Amino acid sequence: MAPYEIPASELVDLSRNSFWISAASIAFNPLFWNIVARQEYHNKILTNLFGGRRQTACYALAATIFCLGLVRDFLYERALRQQPSYPLLEQPESKWLAYGLIASGNVLVLSSTWALGITGTFLGDYFGILMDDIVTGFPFNVTDAPMYYGSTCSFLGTALLYGKPAGLLLTAWVFAVYQVALTYENPFTAAIYAKRDRERAAKGEGKKVR
Ligand SMILES: *[C@@H]1O[C@H](CO)[C@@H](O)[C@H](O)[C@H]1NC(C)=O
Repeated sequence: MAPYEIPASELVDLSRNSFWISAASIAFNPLFWNIVARQEYHNKILTNLFGGRRQTACYALAATIFCLGLVRDFLYERALRQQPSYPLLEQPESKWLAYGLIASGNVLVLSSTWALGITGTFLGDYFGILMDDIVTGFPFNVTDAPMYYGSTCSFLGTALLYGKPAGLLLTAWVFAVYQVALTYENPFTAAIYAKRDRERAAKGEGKKVR
């Protein structure tokens, strides 16, 4: 059998628990932060937990999300190590592409965090900590969701680095999960800022009358 002729059933080993645990952790993270952030927005659960200090509460959520991300990355790499490799993905070209993707993914994630700050990156708007203006410079002139697309690039790069088709499948799952998250988050964030703009406009009107 030629090296590239591998039956599809042997590309990805679905009998490995680690594969499904990784898939679950990929879906769990955005689910977790959306549930917690909406609870914060409606009931101020985190701000109350931190004695009314919303800045501290937001930093605590940021640290939690960051740690969950590390756990997810650990579970992903563990899953990949237990999966079959694919010769085509083990060529040097594939490795170079992998390094390029991981580097661009990190650039997107880090520059986005740099542009937005910690509270801007980690759901500060749900805590009432709003940005003064919409950030339009890099990386937001390249993509509207640099955190999500940057993270997806890193997953894809890691899949290629390990040479594992299972990684490509999990990356597609990451992409799908983030698409769902975006359609859930974007209208909500837009509504938070629209409300702030209405309040600002109302205050401006009040001043003019006086
Ligand atoms: C995005 O903005 C940066 C400066 O912040 C600029 O250097 C870059 O060329 C812009 N990219 C695009 C695609 O507009």
